[in-house]
Amino acid sequence: MAEKTLTIKYKEHSSIDTLSETDKELMLRAIAATDGAYAPYSGFHVGAALRLADGSVVVGNNQENAAYPSGLCAERTALFAASAQRPDMRNYTALAIAGRNAAGELCEASPCGACRQVMLEYEQQQGHALRVLCLQRGGSVREVSSVADLMPFSFSM
Ligand code: THU
Repeated sequence: MAEKTLTIKYKEHSSIDTLSETDKELMLRAIAATDGAYAPYSGFHVGAALRLADGSVVVGNNQENAAYPSGLCAERTALFAASAQRPDMRNYTALAIAGRNAAGELCEASPCGACRQVMLEYEQQQGHALRVLCLQRGGSVREVSSVADLMPFSFSM
């Protein structure tokens, strides 16, 4: 038996103001997208903004349903919308994610396992990294330079 350790690298930006102009714009789009969430059950509004390789942005937000599993997270709403509407541009450079709680406060947004799996497949298909920027409580931003860092030992066929 060999015991092994896995480490991941990530960046912590102290605020959205320290991001590059394009990443800041993307995060602001994610924050704005929280307003479009349909979250009457959890009260937790999530926004996601996906940057396509041509520079355009597709946003998504969580869409809930009384039959709970029928809803969808913000990240997959954005990725599936982009993939459906722009199959010619299935090439993504960055995904920004923001959360807003029932009190209207911005708060930590970290993608769930199912969203990570979906993000990873698009990253693997396109053959280059998709960066992920997550707004944290207090306004800092956590960045990973590749989805693969969020999903070690992932499923693949
Ligand atoms: N949610 C997202 O939109 N993204 C995530 O990565 C985690 C959770 C949504 C799903 C549900 O509508 C609400 O947040 C509470 O779980």
